[in-house]
Amino acid sequence: MQIKNLAVSVNSKKIVDDVSLTVEERSIFALVGGSGSGKSTTGLAVLRLLAPGLEIKSGEAIFGGRDLLKIGAEELRQVRGKEIAMVFQEPLYAFNPVLTVGQQIEEVFTAHTDFLGEKRLEETLRLLDIVGIKDPLRVHKSYPHQLSGGMRQRAMIAQAVALKPRLIIADEPTSSLDVTLQARVMELFLKLRDEFDLSVLLITHDLGVVQHMADHVAVMNNGKIVESGSSGEVLKNPKHQYTRELLSYVS
Ligand SMILES: Nc1ncnc2c1ncn2[C@@H]1O[C@H](COP(=O)(O)OP(=O)(O)OP(=O)(O)O)[C@@H](O)[C@H]1O
Ligand SMILES: [Mg+2]
Repeated sequence: MQIKNLAVSVNSKKIVDDVSLTVEERSIFALVGGSGSGKSTTGLAVLRLLAPGLEIKSGEAIFGGRDLLKIGAEELRQVRGKEIAMVFQEPLYAFNPVLTVGQQIEEVFTAHTDFLGEKRLEETLRLLDIVGIKDPLRVHKSYPHQLSGGMRQRAMIAQAVALKPRLIIADEPTSSLDVTLQARVMELFLKLRDEFDLSVLLITHDLGVVQHMADHVAVMNNGKIVESGSSGEVLKNPKHQYTRELLSYVS
């Protein structure tokens, strides 16, 4: 994914300003920055999921040889379902409470594949196993509220990778979890990268979380990328005052 000179505005105020970044294949790219810096807007803009009132002013989002900001509705639907998956922070976009977790993951196969019932079940259990759920059959039959936050988060990630996307955009995927679970979900992303050859655009305000896993880091402040580079480089030798401030919060 190559984002070029992306600008988004609301009421003619720019909230994403000339953002460019490249998420390489099989890599984990962390987009960090304080609250309101424009991270979520950047992630949502590339899939054209912005709230009404937010307007893409300029830029490109090149993925698989086409510009996601220009393709038609049907092509975009395919990209969203199959090629790029989004994982959101709880509880905003969590599962539907009246369906079991298994039904909801299987629904992805119903919508996008010709798998028969047995195959859908088998694949769903396999995914739940991959994301580290110990008792996939029980989780499959559970309603979302019957699971712990950590298990729901894993189940959501299982659903996101069901169709083997090339890219996951994960917006604060661990901020509702305790520190131990955060680390496990991060390890899970690394494992999924290796298992499915995918890339992750990881949006977070926490430099500590990305310290050990991101290949690249870009730091946003006031809608702009103020610093970017390999994570080792940026974290060891931050150039920008704002990055130093963020780093000072890392324990
Ligand atoms: N629907 C909206 N209407 C008006 N302004 C908005 C809207 N959504 C976001 N903004 C503004 O755009 C800016 C960037 O918001 P964004 O949600 O992208 O930040 P963020 O970096 O994801 O922050 P956080 O870490 O809190 O999630 C903020 O100033 C926010 O107030
Ligand atoms: Mg956000």
